[in-house]
Amino acid sequence: MGQYRVHVFVCTGGDTCPTQGDVEGFVTHLRGEVARAGLKDDVRINKAGCFSQCGHGPMMVVYPDNVWYCGVQESDLRDIFESHIVAGKPVARLQYAPGVKGANKKKGAK
Ligand code: FES
Repeated sequence: MGQYRVHVFVCTGGDTCPTQGDVEGFVTHLRGEVARAGLKDDVRINKAGCFSQCGHGPMMVVYPDNVWYCGVQESDLRDIFESHIVAGKPVARLQYAPGVKGANKKKGAK
């Protein structure tokens, strides 16, 4: 068992995801939701560097479920927070399923 029940990583450090959405704002928003819900001991929201999935973003990963989200927009954060982070039910419509293991950058993405 890890230090947190849910550990979320938002790609803020790469060259592409930050151009596809306000990923710094996603982190701020989710951290606020965690604090308001009194979940700071259970849930950690971290900024992360590139996941080598550039062009599919904004990308986010939720552990220990190992659920990857792609194309996340601000309007999706409520579902991710309420359904997945709080209730443990991943948001199927946002799940990333490229069908290949490892790096999967879109052509032209940095
Ligand atoms: S910049 Fe986000 S996966 Fe590469």
